Amino acid sequence: MVKVLFVCLGNICRSPSAEAAFIAEVKRQGLSSEIAIDSAGTIGHHAGEKADPRTIKHGKLRGLEITSISRKFDSKTDFATFDYIIAMDDANVRDLKILDPSGMCHCKIYKMTDFKVTRTENIVPDPYYCGPEGFELVLDIVQDCSLGLLKHMRQKHSF
Ligand code: 4NP
Repeated sequence: MVKVLFVCLGNICRSPSAEAAFIAEVKRQGLSSEIAIDSAGTIGHHAGEKADPRTIKHGKLRGLEITSISRKFDSKTDFATFDYIIAMDDANVRDLKILDPSGMCHCKIYKMTDFKVTRTENIVPDPYYCGPEGFELVLDIVQDCSLGLLKHMRQKHSF
């Protein structure tokens, strides 16, 4: 089993969207038994909560069921557990690297947009203070990057 963790700041908007988009693509390609998928936030302010209602609403509009419950990234277990730790923006990457001062797991840290296919963005922008278009943009980017991420994983792990 290859394990993938999507990480943003609050784990209520971007990483739950990435998690749901990637779960859907993995399922579509028949690889659900090969890949374990989770998400977390670098802050714990929303721990225990469902995703932001706007995230759930815009996901549903395009057929994605966003059911994750927010949790804080746990440096004691998550670095060891996950093979891919995929951040949404540069601040998330910086915060994750600070949580691994030895640098042993820095090679597991990626940015979602490292796997973009047709999009041009270099981050998944935080939609928290945006209108509906911010949530649509997040979904557009994470769906595109999910295709690239799964292609990368298929090559690397010979699924
Ligand atoms: P996310 O969005 O990192 O995409 O989940 C945010 C959610 C909550 C906050 C900031 C960003 N917040 O400050 O509470």
